Amino acid sequence: MTQWMKALSLSKPVIQAPMAGGLVTPRLAAAVSNEGALGSLASGYLSPGTLEKQIIEMQELTSSAFQVNVFVPEKRKAPDDKTVHTWKKNIPFAEQAAAFPSEEAEWEDFHQKINLILTYNVRACSFTFGIPPDESIHVLKENGCCLIGTATSPQEAVLLEERGMDIIVLQGSEAGGHRGSFLPVSGESSIGLMSLVPQAADAVSVPVIAAGGIADRRGVQAAHCLGAQGVQVGTPFLMCEESEASETYRQELKEAHGTDTRLTALFSGKPARGIVNQWMKEQQAEEANTLPYPLQNTLTKPMRKHAAAAKDSDHMSLWAGQSVGMLNRSADVRTLIAELCQS
Ligand SMILES: Cc1cc2nc3c(=O)[nH]c(=O)nc-3n(C[C@H](O)[C@H](O)[C@H](O)COP(=O)(O)O)c2cc1C
Repeated sequence: MTQWMKALSLSKPVIQAPMAGGLVTPRLAAAVSNEGALGSLASGYLSPGTLEKQIIEMQELTSSAFQVNVFVPEKRKAPDDKTVHTWKKNIPFAEQAAAFPSEEAEWEDFHQKINLILTYNVRACSFTFGIPPDESIHVLKENGCCLIGTATSPQEAVLLEERGMDIIVLQGSEAGGHRGSFLPVSGESSIGLMSLVPQAADAVSVPVIAAGGIADRRGVQAAHCLGAQGVQVGTPFLMCEESEASETYRQELKEAHGTDTRLTALFSGKPARGIVNQWMKEQQAEEANTLPYPLQNTLTKPMRKHAAAAKDSDHMSLWAGQSVGMLNRSADVRTLIAELCQS
């Protein structure tokens, strides 16, 4: 058993990826923690009030460690009115979108979530999209909270270690959902997990965890050979009985091949990997013109909501990693974790 697992009293070197968007509830995350792996609540799109309810529910369902994942707000340039107007015209139901959030409001939300993590003594906190401010790092560490950063390159891993992260999740380009990148990279230079893990493991001294495209014990063992001390698995958990993924989404996951996904910024303004659907095909030429995150996300939210209600997978964001071609049946959390950890 490695040091990071001891610190969190884990018996399995597996982190269930935090997956924002209502897909993972305390029911799933607690089932993971109760198996000796690390369950994760994703606070990304939750209000602080809902996060508080989820933490309380989680603490009722498990006495084992779990983490809360938080998005780090980014600086952004204000988009020009013409681009905003064009997207408002082109995105179905965009007229129903909420007002754009200000950066100040995003930071307020961030700090409220950090306060909840402190109040409820959550054992671990992970970050994506950046490095949290020094004062948040300091106060969380003082409270004994284990800090987990997300890196998509060895350079990001080095920065995260320098700033005090205890563990670094290395997200390969195969991964489903948003890229956690925070240093400028072009889409073409996204590094696959096979190359990322050994380079980053050599560059830092804290434990590294491999994420992206891992769906069975072969992936777990390969990650270990490359220098990772554990894995973070996302897409396969979406197929678990305990997940909140809709039947429409599950059907797409079941039918998709490994070649059916690509990175797109069309839904949120930030690159994320998902199953290619009609909306992505129609708007492909506009990839470079999306509004900055999270503004594009705000404008597409009503479209995604209507699509979910209408079971219309062509206008939903079907986030999935390249392991999606291996997911042809559903299991429960216990079975998936047992399969991942089979020796
Ligand atoms: C539906 C979905 C939502 C995600 N949301 C988050 C999130 O809120 N925070 C985060 O740090 N990572 C998020 N990710 C990325 C995962 O942490 C992880 O990097 C990825 O799932 C690993 O690749 P895999 O899906 O191929 O296992 C998400 C991934 C998916 C598939």
